[in-house]
Amino acid sequence: MSERPVCNYEGSRYNTEFWTAERSYEDAAERIALKALLPPRGRRLVEIGAGFGRLADLYEGYEEIILFDYARTQLEKAVERLGHDGRYLFVQGNFYHLPFSAATFDTVTMIRTLHHAADAGAVIRNVAEILASEGVFVLEFASKHNLKALGRYLLRRQAWSPFDEAPVEFVELNFDFHPRWIWRQVEAAGLRREAVRTVSHFRIPWLKRLLPARLLARLDALAQPTGRWWQWSPSVFVRLRAPAKASPPRPLFRCPDCGTPLGDPPRERFACPTCGKVWARQEGIYNFRDPLNR
Ligand SMILES: C[S@@+](CC[C@H](N)C(=O)[O-])C[C@H]1O[C@@H](n2cnc3c(N)ncnc32)[C@H](O)[C@@H]1O
Ligand SMILES: [Zn+2]
Repeated sequence: MSERPVCNYEGSRYNTEFWTAERSYEDAAERIALKALLPPRGRRLVEIGAGFGRLADLYEGYEEIILFDYARTQLEKAVERLGHDGRYLFVQGNFYHLPFSAATFDTVTMIRTLHHAADAGAVIRNVAEILASEGVFVLEFASKHNLKALGRYLLRRQAWSPFDEAPVEFVELNFDFHPRWIWRQVEAAGLRREAVRTVSHFRIPWLKRLLPARLLARLDALAQPTGRWWQWSPSVFVRLRAPAKASPPRPLFRCPDCGTPLGDPPRERFACPTCGKVWARQEGIYNFRDPLNR
């Protein structure tokens, strides 16, 4: 399958070690942005790189909610929390090889995940393909064009320039992007930019110690709409719209390896009639990452 490298969260304690009380402000600010940009209701939504489903409660207005991630151990945590609710489907796979048919989602979200894409343009094109006619993609990306990076660059504490439009890999498989570079990728994928919010303006350790997270999040909410004019924050949220397209009914799943339509859930197994790979549901998670017969 994919030769492109993947940032593997398998076995990571992302839910407890990253999302501590110290990040309450970022969590609250991201929820405000996502709520403002997400169509509140719809038929089918997928979050690509959903992790343990931190943001899943914001998707409650949808009839079918798919949490998609590469790491099985992240999805197992999501199953523990949300598996009792029949609206959720848990799907394991790789964003370079989505196991979904073209034009099948009203809404796609991707938060803190493009950050790990060495080929972000390919991921954006893949999302554009699975969006239904005039579907919405709410994308968050980490921006290299932020005030802290600017300060560090001017003080010569950082080698890379926040003005250079190419993505920067500051730690292996962790990328920050220039907004203009992202705008070019989304345009090339045929998506139209509808609204932009800059997020986490106050991600400054001493300020976070000084002021309560709720107050900072409220101030952030006031600053977020300025993303329409300029982007100087470390995180940017954008609502993108797919063009009108013919979308005949298709089964939800397709073979991630060869693209052959496979069928709809619920089913225990999907055998691909073209490449012969067999994909299975294991303890509530559809595994489209590792076929049963390698
Ligand atoms: C920082 S976490 C974000 C989780 C969630 N969206 C949130 O905001 O809490 C990034 C997630 O992207 C997933 N991921 C990384 N590379 C991926 C890939 N190639 N395909 C699918 N998911 C991937 C990781 O497994 C991880 O759960
Ligand atoms: Zn196949």
